[in-house]
Amino acid sequence: MLIGQGNTSVIYKGTYCGEECAIKTVPIAATQLSNENEFLNQLQHPFIIKLLASGQSSTDIIYIYELLDYDALTLLNASKFGLNEDIVRIIGFPVCCALKYIHSRGIAHRDVKPANILLSRDNVKLADWGFAAYTDQPFNDKKGSPIYMAPEIYSQSTYHGPPADIWALGVTLYQLKTNTYPFGDKADDIDELKNEIFTVTPFLSLSSSSSSLTIDLRETITSLLTKDPSLRPSASNALYLPFFKM
Ligand SMILES: Nc1ncnc2c1ncn2[C@@H]1O[C@H](COP(=O)(O)OP(=O)(O)OP(=O)(O)O)[C@@H](O)[C@H]1O
Ligand SMILES: [Mg+2]
Repeated sequence: MLIGQGNTSVIYKGTYCGEECAIKTVPIAATQLSNENEFLNQLQHPFIIKLLASGQSSTDIIYIYELLDYDALTLLNASKFGLNEDIVRIIGFPVCCALKYIHSRGIAHRDVKPANILLSRDNVKLADWGFAAYTDQPFNDKKGSPIYMAPEIYSQSTYHGPPADIWALGVTLYQLKTNTYPFGDKADDIDELKNEIFTVTPFLSLSSSSSSLTIDLRETITSLLTKDPSLRPSASNALYLPFFKM
């Protein structure tokens, strides 16, 4: 049964060693874009999707993952005006913990967004490691999903991965709570999107929609969306922001 589709990949529900699993197939022609097993084989964390096995057919690379129920975008789409803050915290806190773990091991995810956060009754897991990369050198390739990409990815020839992941977490929290984007949804008009990302400060003027967020969540999102990457909190510091600190 088909359970998901990405730009190049297809994800089916299947069985592996008698257990239900998710089977992701990526055409070999697209695999220089995708090296998920290189990273997942070295990451073991309760909030990171488990890769059970990988292999290759004549046309595709095949990844076998533990199966979760749905992704956070699907959950969001089922709620017209966004998720309540307890649910946003239940999703956001584990993702921030997963980022702290990978950043301390010199890896950036580079595609944090609701569609790449998988959920089941008792689990939240960061998935889709196709853009992950080592952080020993600054990046000079502009990877990610445009709406979630940090200003420095657009404005600088090189950038560091961990602060860009933190920015994407900020966009993600905003989206999960409001079911809108902090810098608009003009993914097909990059100049307009860039302009918003460079100039807009969310919550600067408190509209009725943003006043429905608690001060804790507003302060936390504002901090994650600090434009200057050198002033943005690290994942370990972000865990002390008011929305996460419990
Ligand atoms: N282990 C899993 N359990 C349940 N659903 C999954 C699993 N893996 C992926 N999916 C579903 O398939 C979708 C696409 O998977 P994934 O993000 O890994 O593919 P992708 O090709 O990298 O996607 P994109 O290019 O859109 O980022 C997910 O958003 C999710 O809905
Ligand atoms: Mg994805």
